[in-house]
Amino acid sequence: MRFLIINGPNINFLGIREPEIYGGRTYSDLIEHIRAGCSELGVECEFFQSNHEGAIVDAIQGAYRRIDGIIINPAAYTHTSIAILDALKAVGIPAVEVHLSDVDSREDFRQISYAGKACCARFAGMGFDGYLAAAKHLVSVLS
Ligand code: DQA
Repeated sequence: MRFLIINGPNINFLGIREPEIYGGRTYSDLIEHIRAGCSELGVECEFFQSNHEGAIVDAIQGAYRRIDGIIINPAAYTHTSIAILDALKAVGIPAVEVHLSDVDSREDFRQISYAGKACCARFAGMGFDGYLAAAKHLVSVLS
């Protein structure tokens, strides 16, 4: 199985941005964490991070017929992007939404998730481990 792990805007600033919310570890640490966990599951992974909505849409389209599962943290685009929702629906690849923080207990403007409407599960507030929970979920869905 091959998964694409997509991270949206400002996730490349992990370790710098609001460490009291997102922790002190970096985006490179996140990739290492996911790669190690996925390799234990026998899953290969590709990583994509962008601060640009259209680039994320392109990455989702690029997964068509090539990738078995998508793990996506659209970051702020979660709450605004119908384009990302439509792209996930268009490719029809099983997708899981992840958030490092517990978005449900944060500001009102974070309470809507457009991308989540195209995802079969959501893991929020589990930090880096949310991505591994998402990978395990996808493995069970796809097996
Ligand atoms: C986030 C939560 C979003 O509301 C926020 O805009 C982010 C990160 C998270 O991982 O907790 O950038 O997706």
